[in-house]
Amino acid sequence: MTRAIYPGSFDPVTNGHIDIIRRSANMVDELFVGVLNNSAKNSLFSVDERVSMIKEITTDLPNVRVVSFDGLLVDYAREINANIIIRGLRAVTDFEYELQIAQTNHVENPAIETIFLTTSLQYSYLSSTIVKEFAAYGGDISQFVPETIVARIYNKFGIKKGEQHEQ
Ligand code: PNS
Repeated sequence: MTRAIYPGSFDPVTNGHIDIIRRSANMVDELFVGVLNNSAKNSLFSVDERVSMIKEITTDLPNVRVVSFDGLLVDYAREINANIIIRGLRAVTDFEYELQIAQTNHVENPAIETIFLTTSLQYSYLSSTIVKEFAAYGGDISQFVPETIVARIYNKFGIKKGEQHEQ
């Protein structure tokens, strides 16, 4: 049985993340989406909020479990018996950092392999940071994140539905 973990901050989850979740869920028997619980990082959404948003969006994927984790990713992967780490690569700018993490994780635990999925073209520009930046100024984020979480993101910035810019 192949069990993989797709880790990330997911603050908030974007359509690019969802694309990686769906494609990797097709490749493995069981996929854990691991939401990093990093209290040092100033997150827009609490870890519980991030977990429940991803759960809502992935209810149609029976082999996906959404969890939170803290500490080292390789330690958590070993704890849940996952021997594959999935990461998405958008552009060459992601590559250097991702390579460094993957190689370090492999030195820490050679039994765990990192697999990179290239982001689908239509999401190659997308990041949680960009979504937050647009939302903070009332920009239209409806093409960037699942419909069910659009209003929750605006709420964090005190923007009510209808106040955001028209496209
Ligand atoms: O969505 P992100 O912020 O790019 O995800 C980064 C993440 C969560 C994969 C990475 O920060 C991570 O694995 N953190 C857990 C701590 C750890 O294992 N650090 C060593 C590798 S940086």
